[in-house]
Parts: sequence; C-alpha cells; structure tokens
Amino acid sequence: MSQVLVASNRGPVSFSLSDDGTLTMRRGGGGLVSGLAAVTGGPGRPPSEPGGADVLWVCAALGEADRTAARQAPDGRLDEAGYDTGGAAVRMLDIPAATFHRAYNAVANSTLWFIHHLLYDTPRVPHFDARSRRDWQSYEAYNAAFADAMARDAAEGSKAVIQDYHLSLAPRMLRDRRPDLKIAHFSHTPWAPPEYYRLLPDDIGAQVLEGILGADHAGFLTERWADAFLDCCGLLPGARVDRVARTVAYKGHTTRIGVHGLGIDGEELRRRASESDVISRAEALSEQVGDRKLIVRVDRTELSKNIVRGLAAYREMLTNHPEWRGRVVHLAFAYPSRHDLPEYREYTAAVQRTAEQITDEFGTPEWDPLILQVNDDYPRSLAAYGLADVLMVNPIRDGMNLVAKEGPILSERGSVLVLSREAGAAAELGEHALMVNPYDVSQTAEALHQALLMPRDERLARCDRLAAAAAALPPHRWFGDQLDALD
Ligand code: G6P
Repeated sequence: MSQVLVASNRGPVSFSLSDDGTLTMRRGGGGLVSGLAAVTGGPGRPPSEPGGADVLWVCAALGEADRTAARQAPDGRLDEAGYDTGGAAVRMLDIPAATFHRAYNAVANSTLWFIHHLLYDTPRVPHFDARSRRDWQSYEAYNAAFADAMARDAAEGSKAVIQDYHLSLAPRMLRDRRPDLKIAHFSHTPWAPPEYYRLLPDDIGAQVLEGILGADHAGFLTERWADAFLDCCGLLPGARVDRVARTVAYKGHTTRIGVHGLGIDGEELRRRASESDVISRAEALSEQVGDRKLIVRVDRTELSKNIVRGLAAYREMLTNHPEWRGRVVHLAFAYPSRHDLPEYREYTAAVQRTAEQITDEFGTPEWDPLILQVNDDYPRSLAAYGLADVLMVNPIRDGMNLVAKEGPILSERGSVLVLSREAGAAAELGEHALMVNPYDVSQTAEALHQALLMPRDERLARCDRLAAAAAALPPHRWFGDQLDALD
C-alpha cells in the first residue's frame, strides 16, 4: 500500500527487445518524465524529497517489449523484478495493444494533443465519426485501467497525482472508486481556448472537463493555461466557475485550480553534464564547428515545435545577411517521436527536405551551414547547450519547454535565447530572451541575426538571469507544491 501514487502514460523507463529475446531498459524521455524522475527517482538517480519508498509510479506499457517486461514482473512491479528504477516503486500496466494504440495514438496524441496545441488544419480535419467513438471507448478503458490499479494500491487517505492529457478521465474514475483519496491532476500541455476546444464533439469535450473536475486540485504550468481551462469549464452546463478564487464547483464537488511552474535542478544537470560521455561529445562537436558561431535547437520531431519554420528563419537570415555565410553553423537535433502517426512521419520528412534545401543552397566544400541530427542522444544535447552561441526555441505552442531552461544553465559562452512567446517558459524567461511570434519567420530570422551580434557582456548577463530563472522552480518543489495543495 502506498501513501503517494503518481500516474502517467510514460514511465521512468521503457524497454526494447532484441532478436534473442533479451530485454534492454532505457530512460524515458520528455518534460513530464524528466520532472517526475527527479523526485521519484529514475534509473541511476536516487529519489530526493519528497518521495522515497512509499511513492508508487503507475505507468503504461508502451509497446511489445514493455508489455513483455510488465508481464514477467510480479504484478507489473518493475522494481520487484530487479530493474534499476532509481528507488521508485514502478507498476507498469499491461494494457491490451489495440486499446493502448487507440487511447494513446488516436485520442491522446491525435485529438487532445492537437486541440491543446492548436494543430488542426480545420478545413480538412478534425473529422469525428463512428471510428472516433470506438477510439474514445478505448480511451475510457485505458483510463479505467489506471483508476483500477490506483484504487487497489492506494493506502487509506493517500494522495494520487495524475499526470497529463492521456489521463483526463482517471481523476473522476478514481474518486468514484476511492472517495477517501486526495486526488490531483496536472496538465503538462497548454490548454485550448474555448473557441478551439469547441471543435471536440460536445459529449467528449464535457467528459474531459468532468474527468479533471473529479480531482481536488487541477494544476497547470502557467496562468495562461489555467485561465483557459477555467474558460472552458464555463462551457460546461452546471459548472460554477470562480475566476478570482480559481475554483470550479461541479456536481457537489469543488476543484481548486493551481499554477505550478516546472524548472530544472541546476546542480543535478551540471553534474550530469560533467560526465565523460558529454565531454567527449563536446570535443567532437567543437572540432566539427571550429571557430564558427553556433545556433542550436533541440526538440522531439514534433509538429508543435515548429522546426520547419525555424529552419526557414535560418535560411532567411543567411539570405538577408550574407556576411554570416561561412561564419555560422546551425546544429538542429530533431529526435524521433510518435512515428505511429502519419502527421509525424510527414513532418519528419518535411524537416529533412527543408534541411537538404538549405544545404544545397548555401553549402560549400568548406562549410556545412546546417547539421541536422535525427537520432536521440541526450549527452550530445547537453554538450551542444554548452557550446551554443544562440539557442532557438520557437514552438507554435508549448506547455513549458524545458530545453529553454536547460540550455542557459549549461551555457559556457553566454548563449542568447530566441524564444517563442507561445511557450509556457516565456512567462518566466521572456524578459531576458529575444521573443518571437513563432509564425513570423522574418522576425525570427532577424532575432537570430541580433542574437549573433549581441555583445559578449550583454549575452553573459542575460544568460545568468535566464539560468537563475530556469533553476528557480526545481522539480522537487513543483511536485511538493502539488502534494501540499492537497492538504
Ligand atoms: C510531452 C507530454 C508528455 C509526453 C512527452 C513525450 O512532454 O506532456 O506527457 O510524455 O511529450 O511524448 P510521448 O508521446 O513520446 O510520451
């Protein structure tokens, strides 16, 4: 029985299966896992306060290898099966493949992710039909699997902290099963404005809100997303929204809405960056770039990250300011993500095409203007943060964006942050960054130019302030605040 339960789709670890049937474990990725692993423990890192032995992290098996590992472990408990989960107790749920696929790909990542990040090309999509209803039933079943597991494992009166858009129905389902628990939900994404939220079928839009309103506390990364959620609750018949107190009363239960920014554990990140795998990659990158200026970006290959417009901005800068040709290199890390979705495969191809065009147009035998890397390599990203003169973070929309926070902490040259005003991080970092409208390619191109020209003293001063702001809300505080909000 556990005192604190954490639930998220992606857990701290995932597995791959080799031909001879051996399972290999690796660290999970993304902002949510980075934040949670820092408090509940992740592979190779001990849990810090609060957390410890009585935290149970419930997550889903994401693929066949995970399902095998979950089945082989006693009751899905990876820690009990001897895996290094960093001290956290981890239960991996073996959800049937078809149910998982529809819940994760069709509903969570296609529908809800697209809604909150404003990604639909509305004249063509979305298109909700009978098939969407079937997908929705799988999403309900997937949420119920989490609610069942938590209801079974939670000690009397304990706290359950449920994460993200994959699990928006679970808070209410868990309350129905275990009214004694204190339940929190946290959204790591933006929240859609009501006009856009209304693209969802009415019953589905209402169920998502009702699901989250099953929690005692609903947390968001910024005020902007919290306010948008309150605005959407205004669409729900029977809900009483108090914008000043930030509460929503619905069906006899009141949910408090809170804002908890998520930042970086600066000390831990610096420690990680001092390890030999990062140092050797830094040496290799240094050699590749030479004495040229370096513009870096690090993203999942994700539609909301706006990589194609970022590349177009670099191209426009080289066109408008030819003095940079031969004197700058753009290092773009675009790691594979969500490849089961056709939109992501097409987007990856578009990123690669744009990169090739830039190389063809400007490249010379002596100069590679752009280095695009598409394989996941965390230590290489850390190395690049150290060397960057400019860090470009230009999402269409982003819950927070931890790259914008990690980069300045590791910067050795005082990197300038070119930051989208639509990233949650802009609320905390905007003052010290060069802010851009992510759709305005010309403005972004000009910001890159200004960033490259910025005098050293100003760059260093701005970067220090960025690093301080980025480390101001470390994960243990973010998590502790969510638990405290339940008292
Ligand atoms: C975002 C979401 C996380 C998700 C991560 C990676 O940060 O908020 O919940 O885990 O993206 O996406 P993936 O689909 O690979 O888990």
